[in-house]
This record gives sequence, C-alpha cells and structure tokens, in this order.
Amino acid sequence: MPDTRAAAEAAGLNPDRIPVHIAIIMDGNGRWARERGEDRLFGHWEGYRALMRTVYAADALGVRYLTVYGFSSENWQRPKEEVDGLMGLMLFAMQAEIDELEENQIRVLFSGRIHELIPELQEEFASDMRRTAHFDRMTFHLAINYGGRAEIVDAVRVLATKVRDEALDPNTIDECDISAHLYCPDLPDPDLLIRTAGELRLSNFLLWETAYSEIYVTPICWPDFGRDALILAIQEYQKRIRKFGKVVE
Ligand code: FPP
Repeated sequence: MPDTRAAAEAAGLNPDRIPVHIAIIMDGNGRWARERGEDRLFGHWEGYRALMRTVYAADALGVRYLTVYGFSSENWQRPKEEVDGLMGLMLFAMQAEIDELEENQIRVLFSGRIHELIPELQEEFASDMRRTAHFDRMTFHLAINYGGRAEIVDAVRVLATKVRDEALDPNTIDECDISAHLYCPDLPDPDLLIRTAGELRLSNFLLWETAYSEIYVTPICWPDFGRDALILAIQEYQKRIRKFGKVVE
C-alpha cells in the first residue's frame, strides 16, 4: 500500500494533521460548461472526471473519509433533461469505476433517500456497497437525493417510533442519539467542508454533521478541481486553530 505520510509530506502537508473526513459541495459544473459554450451536462461529465481525480488524490494523502454532494433533494426541480442526464451519469460512473475502486480497497457508501431513485441505481449502489463493505482504507461516500433537513427528519421519525413503542425514554434523548440515527452513524463529523465555485452557503448539506467543520470556499469551478486544489484546501485547513467553542491559548 502507498505511504500516505510520505505523500502528504511531499505535498507540503503535515501528515499528522490531515483531515480525517473531508466533505465537498461540488458546485459550478453548469457555469464551467457555459463559459465554454457547452451544455450543463457536459459540465457534469467533466465533474465526474474531477471527482475521480479527487477520490484517488484524497486516498493517496491519507484522508480516511470523503463525502461528496452528488444530487440534492432539491435538484429534482431542475429541467427533466438535466435530472435524467445526471441519473444516467451516476449509473454509468459507478458501473465504470467500481472495479478500480475495489482494486484500490476503497469502501463505497451511498446515503440519502436512495429508495426514491430508479431501480437500476438502487441495485448498482447496493452491489457496490456489498462489494466494498469490508475495506477500511478510505471510505468514498456519495450523498444522492440527499437533504440535510430530510436526514434529520428521517432520524426524528425513527426516534419517535422508538418512543411510541416505549423502547426509548424521550427525556434521555441527547445529541448522541440524533447522531446515531443519521444515515451514516459510523462516519465521524467532517473536519473540513470544501465548496467550489465561490458561493458562501451550505445548501442543505450535512447540517447536523458540519457543526464544527472548518469551511473552505474556492472560486474554481468543480470540473477544474483535483489534487492541486485539494492540497491547497488542506494547507489552509492546517493553518486553522480548531476551538470547538473553547478557549485555545
Ligand atoms: C452542482 O453544479 C453540481 C451538481 C448538482 C451535480 C454534481 C455531480 C457531479 C459532479 C457528477 C458526479 C458524478 C457522480 C458519479 C456522483 P451546478 O450544476 O449547480 O453548477 P452551477 O451552479 O454552475 O449551475
């Protein structure tokens, strides 16, 4: 297996302060395409290439969890042609990439309201997760048909059902209970949240989990993202002092 510490040092990073979990809002595919006189789907296909570059770069630098926002619960409101194109792209991408991901021992995880997706995607995602479930190198986590508020609503529904069934005392519910009922309870909260294409908002992404994430926004559009941009983001992260509400001298 490649030496991630040596790779981090060679990239000018402190190998002891690589963010364990990086989350990314991959924005700007449409703008990137428009600037080139292409249609939006062309931008999404280039975004797919950027995504795979970023997955392998993150793995090589020692990042343990990479979560990306592939499709939000609000993205259904886009034109049908774009929604269908994105669904087709995600199916194509996972079918094309799963062998290489498996060879590199990368665990693949999907979250969101997956049961609302087309059956072909549901089957592909289930198979990809089954094939890679035993790997513990890096987890590549795709949030699809995901909304941060919907995730909290889904957790509250399960907790409310447990209260109704008298399996849970409402007075004992705490933050750990909420975290334990989110889509991926075994993932640590993101240390670093990256957003491309310059907008300064969360867009309903990981609302609970990013309470203490460091936020890094870059003006570059997602199709231009890759190893170099990731290293810049981690360098900036390594300059931050994380206080978690405490006083740090
Ligand atoms: C936001 O850019 C991007 C998306 C809504 C889709 C992200 C999807 C990809 C990067 C392809 C991923 C492939 C897989 C396998 C998950 P935008 O369209 O909102 O850009 P704009 O703000 O410039 O219009």
